[in-house]
Amino acid sequence: MTDSSTTSKPASPQTPQLISCPDEMRIAVQEHRAQGRTVGVVPTMGALHEGHLSLVDAARRECDVVVTTIFVNPTQFGEGEDLDNYPRTLEADLTALAARGVELVFAPAAGGMYSADHDTTVTVGSLASEFEGRCRPEHFPGVATIVLKLFQIVPADFAFFGQKDYQQSLVVRRMVADLNVPIEIRVCPTIREDDGLAKSSRNVYLSAEERQRATCIWRAFQKAEELLTAGTSTTVDLIQAMRDVIRAAGVTHIDYVAITTCDSLVPVDKIDAPVVVLVAIRIGETRLIDNHLLRPPA
Ligand code: PAJ
Repeated sequence: MTDSSTTSKPASPQTPQLISCPDEMRIAVQEHRAQGRTVGVVPTMGALHEGHLSLVDAARRECDVVVTTIFVNPTQFGEGEDLDNYPRTLEADLTALAARGVELVFAPAAGGMYSADHDTTVTVGSLASEFEGRCRPEHFPGVATIVLKLFQIVPADFAFFGQKDYQQSLVVRRMVADLNVPIEIRVCPTIREDDGLAKSSRNVYLSAEERQRATCIWRAFQKAEELLTAGTSTTVDLIQAMRDVIRAAGVTHIDYVAITTCDSLVPVDKIDAPVVVLVAIRIGETRLIDNHLLRPPA
């Protein structure tokens, strides 16, 4: 790494080494670790934005070597979902990763992760049964399976995930603990647009008018904060108020608005400890998910 304090001009960013072969990737990581370097991995499906790049920055701060994986994983998409339309922007992604100082990118070919006779899937438990798991039954088995495969291919010290996909981060943590995967999971805060909309690769699907309506999620979180601060701690009232904010924005398709415990996603009646608000809505053809932590007023 160049020390920018000793150079007059920042060095032009080095393009990361792009690897598509799992065995080559594993050996590259093993060699770094054998040399005593710590390795951080950031699993993604590409179409990178500042949310993904904040994970890369966190990995960069904590680890000697940063690996980003880019793979649009077919097994976590259901029938009729957006697998075929999912944005694929590899060139721009590599440029962004170069600017953030990433050393290695693992980007297997579309058919490169599952052989024709692939026959093993990670079974996920109760953490994955509600919310996203109920709306998209094939999603978390697909996520857990690909994440475990990626951890085998990139045997890193640390893996970085976003709070944006709150339930996913819990499912991955659980899997790593249950299956004794030797990697430490870090969960980093959600990066938002100025108006509160969580950055997402899927936001490009929104028309200008839908994009405006999408701010209702953040406004609903703020409404819940406001009411909680003013003394409303019953979740049935907070959920009703949030649904009203979302409906007032013309959103008719609400998959769920829930308030649950932070670690086991069990719905609570009253807020007397930290909780998480989980929201999934559909605007036009676009499904948006988000979450927000709430604490009882001091
Ligand atoms: P993807 O949606 O590309 O997200 C990759 C990582 O970026 C996830 O950990 C996600 O939570 C995080 N992320 C997305 N938007 C964010 C934001 N606004 N702020 C902070 N972090 C954000 O999640 C997946 O891919 C896949 O399921 C994957 C784990 C790669 C398995 O295929």
